[in-house]
Amino acid sequence: MYRTHHCGALRIEDLKQSVTLSGWVQKSRNKGFIVWVDLRDRYGITQLVFDEERTPKAVFEKAQNLGREFVIQIRGSVIERESKNPNMNTGAVEVLVEELTVLNEAQTPPFTIEDQTDGGEELRMQYRYLDIRRNPVKEKLLFRSQVSMAVRNYLTDAGFIDVETPYLIKSTPEGARDFVVPSRMNPGQFYALPQSPQTFKQLLMVGGLDKYFQIVKCFRDEDLRADRQPEFTQIDCEMTFVDQESILNQFEGLTRHLLKEIKGVEVSEFPRMTYEEAMKTYGNDKPDIRFGMTFAELNDLAQGKGFGVFDSQELVVGIAVPGAASYTRKELDALIDWVKRPQIGAKGLIWVKCNEDGSYKSSVDKFFSPADLSGWAERSGAKARDLLLVLSGEAKTTRTQLSALRMELAERLGLRKPEEFAPLWITDFPLLEWDEETQRYHAMHHPFTSPKPEDLEKLTTDPAAVKANAYDLVLNGNEIGGGSIRIHDQKLQAQMFDLLGFTKEEAQAQFGFLMDAFQYGAPPHGGIAFGLDRLVAILGGEETIRDFIAFPKNNSGRDVMIDAPASIDALQLEELALKTLPKKEE
Ligand code: AMO
Repeated sequence: MYRTHHCGALRIEDLKQSVTLSGWVQKSRNKGFIVWVDLRDRYGITQLVFDEERTPKAVFEKAQNLGREFVIQIRGSVIERESKNPNMNTGAVEVLVEELTVLNEAQTPPFTIEDQTDGGEELRMQYRYLDIRRNPVKEKLLFRSQVSMAVRNYLTDAGFIDVETPYLIKSTPEGARDFVVPSRMNPGQFYALPQSPQTFKQLLMVGGLDKYFQIVKCFRDEDLRADRQPEFTQIDCEMTFVDQESILNQFEGLTRHLLKEIKGVEVSEFPRMTYEEAMKTYGNDKPDIRFGMTFAELNDLAQGKGFGVFDSQELVVGIAVPGAASYTRKELDALIDWVKRPQIGAKGLIWVKCNEDGSYKSSVDKFFSPADLSGWAERSGAKARDLLLVLSGEAKTTRTQLSALRMELAERLGLRKPEEFAPLWITDFPLLEWDEETQRYHAMHHPFTSPKPEDLEKLTTDPAAVKANAYDLVLNGNEIGGGSIRIHDQKLQAQMFDLLGFTKEEAQAQFGFLMDAFQYGAPPHGGIAFGLDRLVAILGGEETIRDFIAFPKNNSGRDVMIDAPASIDALQLEELALKTLPKKEE
C-alpha cells in the first residue's frame, strides 16, 4: 500500500496515528540535527520531520540527501507541531518519520514548482507535466473537470444523450481551414478533421435521437489568439421539434445552472439584443455589458459646423468614459497614439473633457461652442468629470475602432470585473456576409442555418437583407456559444448552396449525404455549441483559454513539449502517396 492518507488529509484529530504517505519533495530544510521536508501531492502538503534522536539512523541519513521533486514514501506517526501554520489545512500537525523509501529520484526541475514560479511561458510549456504540479495550473484543470461534469449532469438530467461522432470525416465548412489527414488505403485522398460535428448532429436528428449532446474536440486551422486554439472543445447540442425560443430557454437554463453551481451567482433572465442593435450600441456582436460607455451617434450634432474631419464622414460616434476628464495632455496624446496604431487604424481621436464646473475643454474648441459640446455630452450620457471620445469615418470600420477603444479603456479603468457575470443573447444575425475578396456571399454562421421564414422571398431579391434564425450566447464580452435553427428542407438547402456559389455538382459531391437525408423525413431541428475552453476560462475569471487546457499549443500552433508538428520519414510519405521515392539502383 503506497499510502493510508493523502498529503492534504491529516488534522489534529489524527495525533498518534501511524500513517503512510507518498508524494513529491516540495522542499527540505536541513538543520543538521533535524530535517524538515514538505511532502506534496494533488491534495496538499504535509510536513515531515526527521530527527537525529527519534528517527532511525539510516533513515535520518537518507533524508539528508533528498532532492527537490524526489518521489518518496514514508511511514511515521502524526505529532503536534510546535509552531502551527494556520494557512495550511495540515498546519497543526507533522509526521515524525520512521521509514523512508525513495520511489524515484529527480533531476533539479528547470523552474521552481511553486505558485509563483521563475519559469517563463515557453519553458513551462516544454515541461508542462512539471507545470501541472503547480497549484495554479492544477486548480484550473480541476475546475475544468468540475464544469464539464456539471454540464454532463445537467444535460443528461434534461434527457440529452451523449453520442460520439467521427473525427475522420469530410470537410464541414465552419469558416476556418481544415486540418487534413491522408488516407493510406485511398491514395491521394484525405479525411478532414471536424471543425465541428455539425452535419453529424443533424443526421442524428434525422435518425430520431431527439436530444443529443457531446463534449467533443473540434479542429480549426486558423490563426491563434488568446481565446482560440487549433484544437478546442465544444459542448455540442442538438434538439428536434424546437423553435428558437425553446433552444434559448434550454441553454439559458444550462448557463444559469453553471453560474449557480460553480460560482454561486444567481442571474435573472438573460437580456437579448439583435445583431443590429449590438453593432450600433457597442460596435461589436459580442458586447461586454458589465459597464456602460454605449455608443452615441453624433452626425446630426457634429456635422455642418465647419469641422472638415467630421463633415464628409458616414458616421460620427462617441463614448463617455467615466471619471476620465482628469486625463493629462500626455495621457490623451497616448490614447490618440493608441487608436492610430495599425491594429486599430483610426486617423485621429477627438476628446472633450466635461469639467466639474460644467464647462468643457476639447481638442476641437475652435469649431464647436460649449452648447454644441453640451449636446454631445447629453447624447452620450457624459456627466461632470467624464471624458467624451469621438471617432469618425466609414460606419463599420469606425464602430470596430471605437469598440476596441471602449474595451481598452474598460480594462484600464478596472471595469471588466472577473467576478461579475453578464450573459446576453445576440439574435437576428444576417444570414449572409459579402466577401469582397472572393466576390461571393459567405454564410455568416454556417450553410445549414435557416433563414427567418418571413425573409424567404428576399433570398432571391435581396440576399444581403435576409436575417437568420441564429443566435450567440455572449458572456462578459466573449462569444461562448452559437447556434441556429437548421434548414431541414432539401430544396431550401440546395438554394442556400447555390447562393453560396456552389454548383449543383459541387454541392452534391460535398453535401449530397445531407441533402439525401433530408429526403427521408428530416424533422425540424436546431441546436447550439458552447466553447468549453472559453466557458471554463471565463467562469474561472480569465480570458486566456490556454491555461485551462492540459496540453495546449503555443502561438505558432506548436506543442513544444512533444515537438509537434514534425516531419515524417520518406517511407511514411510514400505510403501515404504524398511523395514518390526515387527507385533504388539495382
Ligand atoms: P461556432 O463556430 O460558433 O459554431 O463554434 C461554437 C463555439 O465554439 C467556440 N470556438 C472556439 N473555442 C476555442 N478555439 C477556437 N478556435 C474556437 N472556435 C470556436 C466559441 C464558439 O461560440 N456547429 C456550430 C454550432 C451550431 O450551429 O450548433 C459551431 O461550431 O465559443
